[in-house]
Amino acid sequence: MQIRGSKVLLTGASGGLGGAIARELARRGADLVITARSRATLEDLAAEIGAEVEVADLSDRSDVERLCGLLGDVDVLVANAGVGGEGGILGTPTEQIDFMVDVNLRAPMVMAGEFARRRVEADRSGQVVMVGSLSGVVATANTALYNGTKFGLRGFTLAIRQDLAPHGIGVSLVAPGFIDSAGMFAENGIELPKGVRTRSPGDVAAGVVKAIESNPAEVYVAPPELRLSAHVGGLAPALSEVIQRRMGVSEMTSER
Ligand SMILES: NC(=O)c1ccc[n+]([C@@H]2O[C@H](COP(=O)([O-])OP(=O)(O)OC[C@H]3O[C@@H](n4cnc5c(N)ncnc54)[C@H](OP(=O)(O)O)[C@@H]3O)[C@@H](O)[C@H]2O)c1
Repeated sequence: MQIRGSKVLLTGASGGLGGAIARELARRGADLVITARSRATLEDLAAEIGAEVEVADLSDRSDVERLCGLLGDVDVLVANAGVGGEGGILGTPTEQIDFMVDVNLRAPMVMAGEFARRRVEADRSGQVVMVGSLSGVVATANTALYNGTKFGLRGFTLAIRQDLAPHGIGVSLVAPGFIDSAGMFAENGIELPKGVRTRSPGDVAAGVVKAIESNPAEVYVAPPELRLSAHVGGLAPALSEVIQRRMGVSEMTSER
């Protein structure tokens, strides 16, 4: 799908990766609706790139419904908002489970469904881009909720991709690994095991551009060795556990 002239609704636009995605799409001529909870950050970004601001809390069902109401003339939905940072299942109250499921999984599911229904009714093509994670491919200790929501998002994305292809609606997953300089990983200051490399917010934005323009099933935004270890971990979880123990991954994730 062509970006120039397309109307794009982007969630999580106030965050580290959302800002980079918004700037890149604006630079390429998209007409943007940017959303998140932080009004001031959204308004600053909108003043810089020229975008419409819609403040919404994705854990609030009526806000999600309100965003769905804006999807009528949207050509591209980029569901980027996400939360992480739980400390493992033993210390996680039910409210936090509800919150993470609502933001990371329910909201993108509901919005993608509404987007698709409207496009099919209007007989228009469109593109859904879900921002997942390598945590949707391989599980790690202390990140069960994040893994659960991102695995779920990946399954949902790859399934609706098949449902919607006959209607001319593309669906892609952009799955970042560790992203430096901005965003949730950079902000929590975790030190990576030796030899594990990062990618930049600009690389994620480039991944979103690729998803919109070429409709690949998945775009992994990570160096080859990390992509390979995620795939091995997805195919052989028991082997992945052993490798992760040797690399001290659970100590790293417990610092979140
Ligand atoms: N950074 C990485 O290394 C990395 C790696 C893999 C995957 N990802 C994924 O990339 C996406 C963007 O992450 P990021 O690194 O940019 O994180 P971030 O800087 O923490 O930004 C998260 C974004 O989600 C929004 N958000 C959080 N809770 C929300 C809620 N209840 N309602 C509405 N919006 C909400 C935040 O906006 P407000 O707080 O203003 O509401 C913010 O715009 C996420 O899906 C994340 O899982 C990131």
